[in-house]
Amino acid sequence: MPVVTPTTASALLGAGYDVRVERSEQRIFGDSEFEKVCATLVPKGSWTEAPTEHIIIGLKELPKDDYLEFLQDDSGRRVAAFGYHAGSAGAALGVEAWAWPHAHPGEEFRGVKPYPSEDALVSHVKSVVTESSAKIGRNPKILVIGALGRCGKAAVDLALKVGVPAENVLQWDMAETAKGGPFVEIVESDIFINCIYLNQPVPPFIDTGSLENPDRKLSVVVDVSCDTTNPHNPIPIYSINTTFGEPTVPVPVSEAFSKDLLPSLLSLKDRKSTKVWAEAEKLFHSKVATLSGY
Ligand SMILES: NC(=O)c1ccc[n+]([C@@H]2O[C@H](COP(=O)([O-])OP(=O)(O)OC[C@H]3O[C@@H](n4cnc5c(N)ncnc54)[C@H](O)[C@@H]3O)[C@@H](O)[C@H]2O)c1
Repeated sequence: MPVVTPTTASALLGAGYDVRVERSEQRIFGDSEFEKVCATLVPKGSWTEAPTEHIIIGLKELPKDDYLEFLQDDSGRRVAAFGYHAGSAGAALGVEAWAWPHAHPGEEFRGVKPYPSEDALVSHVKSVVTESSAKIGRNPKILVIGALGRCGKAAVDLALKVGVPAENVLQWDMAETAKGGPFVEIVESDIFINCIYLNQPVPPFIDTGSLENPDRKLSVVVDVSCDTTNPHNPIPIYSINTTFGEPTVPVPVSEAFSKDLLPSLLSLKDRKSTKVWAEAEKLFHSKVATLSGY
């Protein structure tokens, strides 16, 4: 979740701050959105070289094994990919999110935790989906796009393992999407799992208009590919990433989070006399004092 969005960057610039934003292909808000509000874009990862008087703002923990997925061999194939597990975990989450409201009416679905083993995951999701399907008298219908790839195959396997009948698991790849979207088959499914490797522009698979379809069954979209910041994102119906704590986050959260922080950010100039920053600095120094060599 970005701490500074284009809206809050604009407010900070207006208040006289010099705002620099690292370039990123991953962030929910694209570089161009920051450029539009006249923030200065700087290279990704350049914060480590920034002058010490610059204030670095960021929320995520630092990556331990950055870019592993993008290391490529001579023929351009990724030397390491964790697609199988991503597809499997995404499908498990999707099936559980679909089943949840039937098993727990009125309760929000939140707080997914790691499982000790794949068997434990499968057995849990299987019990939830069996209970919900029995309650409503039918199994979910799932459409997986990119079904011939690593993530897609894993998503299909998982759906079958948790007991969704094979005839309810539609498997699409290049041949089925060649006709060009939006595809009504997506809204006619309960769960849509996107697992494509987007390497060329494609028309959207689904758009906000599709969601208005009165016959829509679709209630869960699992976007394993997660190309939200790509201009050719085939699922342009949301622009936010989910978390383990809130696996199904409503769309406007990013902006709301940053807006809540804005008053504090605007008071950075007077940080010595502002409680929130003075307290933060005190905490910082107390933590630094616990490090050896300081
Ligand atoms: N969310 C995560 O944590 C996570 C983890 C791993 C991979 N991924 C992403 O998931 C995506 C898939 O990864 P993978 O390792 O399974 O890739 P892959 O290359 O093994 O499979 C991709 C599949 O998508 C199909 N495809 C491509 N364009 C398509 C289109 N327009 N219509 C239908 N099918 C199409 C390909 O034919 C292929 O079968 C990548 O974008 C990858 O970056 C995300």
